[in-house]
Amino acid sequence: MPGFAPRLLPPAGSPAGPARPTAAADEDAARGTVVDRRGRPLRDLRLSVIDRCNFRCTYCMPREAFPADYAFMPPAERLSFAQLLKIARAFTQLGVEKIRITGGEPLLRRGLENLVEQLAQLTTLAGKPVEIALTTNGALLAAKARSLKDAGLQRVTVSLDALDDAVFRRMSDTDLPVARILDGIEAARAAGLAPLKVNTVVQRGVNDDQILPLVRHFKGSGVSVRFIEYMDVGGADRWSDGDVLTAAQARDLVAAAFPLVPLDQVRGADTAIRYRHADGGGEVGFIASVSQPFCGACTRARVAADGTLYTCLFATRGLSLRPWLDDHTCATQLAQAVRQRWTQRDDRYSELRASPRPRPGKVYPTVRMSLVGG
Ligand code: GTP
Ligand code: 5AD
Ligand code: SF4
Ligand code: SF4
Repeated sequence: MPGFAPRLLPPAGSPAGPARPTAAADEDAARGTVVDRRGRPLRDLRLSVIDRCNFRCTYCMPREAFPADYAFMPPAERLSFAQLLKIARAFTQLGVEKIRITGGEPLLRRGLENLVEQLAQLTTLAGKPVEIALTTNGALLAAKARSLKDAGLQRVTVSLDALDDAVFRRMSDTDLPVARILDGIEAARAAGLAPLKVNTVVQRGVNDDQILPLVRHFKGSGVSVRFIEYMDVGGADRWSDGDVLTAAQARDLVAAAFPLVPLDQVRGADTAIRYRHADGGGEVGFIASVSQPFCGACTRARVAADGTLYTCLFATRGLSLRPWLDDHTCATQLAQAVRQRWTQRDDRYSELRASPRPRPGKVYPTVRMSLVGG
């Protein structure tokens, strides 16, 4: 792994180490939230609605591991909208303030607007603002942006790894042109889904030459691009150390061409280290999940489309919420079960991997990214 120079890159989240001070934990408890063994509250829910995807990104669903006859989750095993809603309600009872709908590719789930509409009503049920966001590859966004916005979706993050068609097609393993994704982004902007973000996974020697074109393209458009370090997460079967371009290196590359000014984090739990263009052209971000892990401030829970709760992106096992999803069990009982699981949480996998210790293998057998939506 190349050296990490924290010259311009401010720390992302609180540092590794023991639980936060008791005072902070007490404050969270007083607000009715639940904290884990390291003092981290539960604030974000990433809800996967489908494990399928119309792309085969080489770092997430490589075609050799996900061939045409791959046994995806049978539709009958996917949670119904009523069950997804009950999960969302339980998590908001525990202090969740942001719900991100993910996949696979969530826009492949039929009638997603109906789910969004019901989720958006939680905002009033919870008596406090709950943000509803969506992460998508953008292929179907042009057709759906308006109806999603009308249903109550607030924000969209679009994954896009290149502006060049050949690079994009190679990484996403699709025949679609980049223009299709750009149309989706434009439709989201026109619909008022803001702030709009673009996520770019950077692979050294594969799409690092796309960093500057992407920054140039989105500068001044109101869309912020975030460059993500390539992680050895489940699904990244071809990952190796040498493929990672660190956030510091990506930032240096951008800063050499476009003067940048560091910005404060909005929330301690935010993944991206943010900068603004010095000339007012908007924001760029860098997600240093590998070189500078942010486990110390991680408030994210993930639920897969079959109802399995994972308390870490790198978890090897999850807790099935199914027993609490029948018609006879209320959201409050489900919340109790989640509370119990969260209070036992001690995950900090990215930090553990970053520390110098022998690595048992190139890729750990963790849950696949496409199952928990990143
Ligand atoms: P915002 O609400 O826009 O801040 O989104 P976010 O950063 O919470 O979510 P997003 O889907 O934009 O996440 C961006 C990328 O950061 C993901 O695709 C992952 O690659 C990475 N990431 C997000 N959450 C985690 C996490 O908890 N752990 C690790 N290691 N990486 C994460
Ligand atoms: N490393 C970093 N980010 C990844 N994503 C998927 N696989 C990886 C990986 N190996 C991100 C994609 C997308 C989100 C769903 O997950 O960029 O934005
Ligand atoms: Fe699909 Fe997103 Fe995974 Fe690419 S990163 S294969 S678009 S789920
Ligand atoms: Fe959170 Fe696990 Fe990611 Fe660390 S590795 S930030 S604990 S999801």
